[in-house]
Amino acid sequence: MKVISSVILLAASFCCQEAAIVSQQHKRVERTCGYDGCPKPKSDMLNVHIVPHTHDDAGWRRTVDQYFYGTKMKLHKASVRTILDSVIKTLLSDPEKRFIYVESVYFFKWWNLQTDELKSQVKQLVNEGRLEFVGGSWTMNDGAVAHYQSIIDQFTLGLGKLNDTFGECGRPKIAWQIDPFSHSREFAFLVTQMGYDGFFIGRIDYEDKINRIKNRNLEMVWHTGANADIFTGVLYNLYHPPPGFCFDVLCDDDLIVDDINTPEYNLDKKLEAFFEFIEKQSSVMRTNNIILTMGRDFTYMNADYYFSNLDRLIKHIDKRQRNGLKVNAFYSTPSCYLKALHDQTGITWPTKNDDFVPTASTPHEYWTGYFSSRPTLKRFERVSNQYLQICKQLTVLTKNKVSNSQKNIDHLREAMGIIQHHDATSGAVRPYIVNDYARLLQIGIDKCSENIEESLNQLIIDNGNNSGISRHEGVGLDFKSCADLNISSCEISENSHRFMVTLYNPLGHSTHQYVRIPVRNGKFEVFDHKNGSMTYVLVPIPSDVRRLSNRENDTVFELVFFATDLPPLGYKSYFLERKSNLATVKSEVPAKIQDEFITTDANGPFTIGNQYLNLTFDVNGLLESAATEEVQMKVRQNFYFSYTFRPNGTQASQIVAKANVRLIRNKLVDEVHQTFNSWLSQVIRIYKAENYAELHWVVGPIDVDHEIITKFDTDIKSNGVFFTDSNGRQTMKRKLNHRDTWNLTLSEPTASNYYPIQSKIAIEDNTRRFAILTDRSQGGSSLKDGSIELMVHRRLSIDESPTFGKTSNDMAGNGRAARGTHYFVFGSKKIATKASTEANERFIQRQMFLSSWLFFSNMRHLSYDLWRKSYENTFSGMSISFPKNVNLLTCEPLGPNSILIRFEHIFEENEDKFYSRPVSFNLRNVFTTFDVTSIRETTLAANQWLEESKRLSFSTETSDANKINTEREIDAKPNDDDFEISLKPMEIRTFIVEFEWRT
Ligand SMILES: *[C@@H]1O[C@H](CO)[C@@H](O)[C@H](O)[C@H]1NC(C)=O
Ligand SMILES: [Zn+2]
Repeated sequence: MKVISSVILLAASFCCQEAAIVSQQHKRVERTCGYDGCPKPKSDMLNVHIVPHTHDDAGWRRTVDQYFYGTKMKLHKASVRTILDSVIKTLLSDPEKRFIYVESVYFFKWWNLQTDELKSQVKQLVNEGRLEFVGGSWTMNDGAVAHYQSIIDQFTLGLGKLNDTFGECGRPKIAWQIDPFSHSREFAFLVTQMGYDGFFIGRIDYEDKINRIKNRNLEMVWHTGANADIFTGVLYNLYHPPPGFCFDVLCDDDLIVDDINTPEYNLDKKLEAFFEFIEKQSSVMRTNNIILTMGRDFTYMNADYYFSNLDRLIKHIDKRQRNGLKVNAFYSTPSCYLKALHDQTGITWPTKNDDFVPTASTPHEYWTGYFSSRPTLKRFERVSNQYLQICKQLTVLTKNKVSNSQKNIDHLREAMGIIQHHDATSGAVRPYIVNDYARLLQIGIDKCSENIEESLNQLIIDNGNNSGISRHEGVGLDFKSCADLNISSCEISENSHRFMVTLYNPLGHSTHQYVRIPVRNGKFEVFDHKNGSMTYVLVPIPSDVRRLSNRENDTVFELVFFATDLPPLGYKSYFLERKSNLATVKSEVPAKIQDEFITTDANGPFTIGNQYLNLTFDVNGLLESAATEEVQMKVRQNFYFSYTFRPNGTQASQIVAKANVRLIRNKLVDEVHQTFNSWLSQVIRIYKAENYAELHWVVGPIDVDHEIITKFDTDIKSNGVFFTDSNGRQTMKRKLNHRDTWNLTLSEPTASNYYPIQSKIAIEDNTRRFAILTDRSQGGSSLKDGSIELMVHRRLSIDESPTFGKTSNDMAGNGRAARGTHYFVFGSKKIATKASTEANERFIQRQMFLSSWLFFSNMRHLSYDLWRKSYENTFSGMSISFPKNVNLLTCEPLGPNSILIRFEHIFEENEDKFYSRPVSFNLRNVFTTFDVTSIRETTLAANQWLEESKRLSFSTETSDANKINTEREIDAKPNDDDFEISLKPMEIRTFIVEFEWRT
């Protein structure tokens, strides 16, 4: 840059006049928050925005609480409480200083410990823009392995608390993802909808960064969706200070010594290094502003230490400025930096359409292993989310709440926020930290159970006709969840003679579900509330599941029945009765079930399926082909050792060539139980009424340094193209060995082609489409035409390598067994008269993500007749189902008469001929327990009224007009009393709804 060419020269000619004059030039009398309170850059100088900050991980080498309070310091020296104590004290002592704070989980832990007096002082700091919140979500979630529902929830939590506490001045304008290992387009889209003006990131692929530096493209406008552009800046130096300028107890850099009388004097040298650095940085930026992030992980435990050196730095730059130096350095914030860029005239910015996924930090270090690390934690996170949504909904639906109902939900909200943290979801932590995350989730689940039990009791008893039974006579029901259903274990169903199963459906649509309940052998009757006895079957639990070490029982069957017409935001209960004596059962079962498997040598190839989908298996017991009425494909599926993330990685190798199989067919389901070896098995299942197949895999315990993939090799001519979801929402088109933004150097043929899968990976040709949907975050790819692979388990021994995301021993260090499900969806690409295969995938994905939850209640001596008469055994929170392409994304309590509600269109433009159209519906009379009296729209995180949201826009190199439109189109007609809601493809709309209870 021109302005800086004289810098070095001037820096060398040190001059010492007017040492006593401390710069007054940035001092303003009136301080405000927001852009108006920003320091004004000087147009003829290089403006250096000095941004003091700290990066506080919500768990990494220590737990969240250890980091906050400062215990187990030996492992990692850090205390966030001390950081905030110290920073606030320093800010209060000098109005010139500014600081940003990012992680709301820590801020509010700290806030809750302060006196009212200090709180009001902190409010003043916020009101004056001296303390600025940036990011502001509960934690800094990872960009790749987080699901959009949980991202939105954890932003709503953090930003909501900030708005409640500080009002408008507490609303962050900048999204700040400086440490996460990938950046998805869906995440960037979400922050546009939350009203952020700019987005700063730290880590991108090293090749991408080299190119961006070369072309001065570190800062850009990212097109993230329709009317959803956001200014995005890649920080020049990650989130670190220039080398030599980390003035912290955690750093080793020399402090600035400006006392000329000591041999330790180093001011000139320090300044020279500083000028050299900023010159380098500014030479690759487009304006005469640069941002310097002054801080690192957990810095500022002694804030004065850092600040006093920054003071000295700024003071001496000021002095030289008065002698002609064209550098202007001042305390600033990311929003003030963004505003300075925005205010520059005549600057245009490059654009971006794809995403920053995946990331390599060197040719052989790809941050893609973490997509699959710690599979059991990644699944627990999904189940916890499901429970949170149900807890929020059931709390909304009933008038009488348990005391602390909001606090109960907060426990789980906060735990879900914490687990979104980039080291947590990624699994980049040690086993005992994983256990702490699991502990927090479990507490949240237990607390939420209080709300759920109260609501279900009210609905099932108090709404019933109360003939003979009332909860107030002390006969309240337990609604127990069986946490071990995933290993086919449940105390109540195994040991009770009579029990009730209540299916709660959290979707805004009525639905159906095949219910599987672990039981001992014998005869049963399954009743619903009106038609009496229902069809059921007993299906043997695969011996490989029964063998799992954490399974305590010897239950050998699952009872399966088909629950239909499960009402939206509602439940249906079933009564199950054992007809044979339990005592005789125990001894009668095992011998038969432990039979050797029926081998296919004897049976030859076979086919399972129904009218929608058939799967054929070969003589080795492996999947061979798939067929629908319209199309067929060859598809071979097996498990392999992968060497993707190992040095000198080679081709994946098949684990075994032949599976022992057991074939089960009955009225409700066809199943193939495959056993590959002592630690690897799978059930492939097609229910009679479903148009997809389920693959339930059990993998592990596995050895150290093993990575296991499942791979589907088909004859689909995919031409190197495959599709992956972005945070479970948008679809990204991927091309083998290709990046849209730069020419990829292929140093790691496998790892460089791995992408995060939150919900779906798909391939297609002109006539056929094949997708696998997942039940958790996994890494996946298509390394060969027609092939799809997903990593299901991994366990590496290297701990905390530079790209620790690549490593990790799974839970408890034993690589223990993981059980999971893949949904196999196959269909025609032709323009269909019915829903397209893509539409089918979206619907299955929604259904699997928020399936109906099973609650178990022991009925003891109650007869079916009395049960039927006494309880309200079905309930719907809604009088209609929403249109199929509308998803009820959020329904949660705000106050006694208000709720937060979100609707989304789940299709992309042109994804489906019919379902991709805009859709509208009316909210009047939708809910059955209350009447909506008003609705008011907010931005996505519900911390700002939509009509008050105005985002900054930036000119791009390619836009014709001077300024492109980044503002969301606001519906012309305010719909305050109309309640008509319309949605365009991929749109999410958020409302605060006021209501009155129906009597
Ligand atoms: C945010 O806080 C302000 C000030 O307390 C309040 O007036 C406003 O209603 C809040 N916004 C939302 C959307 O809740
Ligand atoms: Zn971090």
